[in-house]
Amino acid sequence: MSDLKNILLSKINCKSVWFMRQAGRYLPEFRKIRAQNKNFIQLCLDSELSSELTLQPIKRFDLDSAIIFSDILLVPHALGQSVNFRENYGPSLGSFNSNLFADINVDKFTNKLMPVYKAIEITRKKLNKQKSLISFIGAPWTLLVYMLGLKIGKEEINLDRLNKKSIRLNEIINELVKYLCVHIQNQINAGADVVQIFDSWAGFIPKEKITNYCYKPNKDIVDFCKKRTIPTICFPKGIGKKYQEYNEIVNPDGINLDYDIDPNWAKDKLKNVVIQGGLNPKVLLHPQDEMINTATKYIKNFKDIPYVFNLGHGLLPETDPDNVDKLVKFYRNFNG
Ligand code: CP3
Repeated sequence: MSDLKNILLSKINCKSVWFMRQAGRYLPEFRKIRAQNKNFIQLCLDSELSSELTLQPIKRFDLDSAIIFSDILLVPHALGQSVNFRENYGPSLGSFNSNLFADINVDKFTNKLMPVYKAIEITRKKLNKQKSLISFIGAPWTLLVYMLGLKIGKEEINLDRLNKKSIRLNEIINELVKYLCVHIQNQINAGADVVQIFDSWAGFIPKEKITNYCYKPNKDIVDFCKKRTIPTICFPKGIGKKYQEYNEIVNPDGINLDYDIDPNWAKDKLKNVVIQGGLNPKVLLHPQDEMINTATKYIKNFKDIPYVFNLGHGLLPETDPDNVDKLVKFYRNFNG
């Protein structure tokens, strides 16, 4: 068996390909369903539709894994914080209430996310047995960036706001870890094979806080998964050379490179882990020969070690699906 779960658990050298945000706005069939479902959270909580969206890229391309159509912000939603997606703006959350965790319990939380688990069940039944179904969560820090409203603009966050808040951050992180582990276990029980942990905003954590806000909570979640043989892929985006320290401390089964990481450096420094991704999603917007040249660098660099072909962040909405098809076919036929 060469499925993703097996590759991660046994660290075997095998071909495997999928893309972050493979279900998304670059697909006309996604946009069609999205246009009829204006409320993004409700769309994520429609089990039949989210299963259909999960399978759209699988029908089009020769991919090895499906990732369940959902969002990291369903967790704050299930915890009782209001979450809205505004067109051309992105997510906007209601103000953070420090009593949030006093008003919630594991049963209530699980019930609110039941449609996600149902979507996983439906999808697992429809998906070829050889293909893995990936579930995911946002890491505590990345969720907090949204929950505490730390984000300003598209690529910036405001740490002053964090310092001004009279909140006990470590306690909140521990509560989030608890509920995130519940969400992982529920997704696995429903039929998911793997979990990917997105720490998309890890690169913005101040140096002296990286252990508390990133390494420790990620390690707590990975340790929870290890005890239950749940394969993990971590994505601490933007932490640069700290990828090495992260890998040694958190020790996940797989690690997703972002597009700033030099693949050569990664091969040299990241040990005992399956490497995934790295290719800049922007290269899919370039002429096809350029795209293929850049992809070749990654494929060649990692050809002797376990490597899952993927990107350094999600597919961009302006991507031509034909380029995705070309890239997957190129990867499949690559012998160099
Ligand atoms: O990868 C997949 O195909 C699975 C689905 C998936 C979505 N979100 C669907 C989605 C996954 C894995 C996510 C993770 C996610 N969500 C992250 C971590 C990964 C990353 O991109 O850094 C984050 C930070 C979010 C929060 C989020 N959700 C943002 C900031 C936005 C708006 C901006 C954007 O990129 O579109 C979303 C909306 C969202 N989540 C869309 C999709 C397909 C677009 C919805 C739409 O407007 O049609």
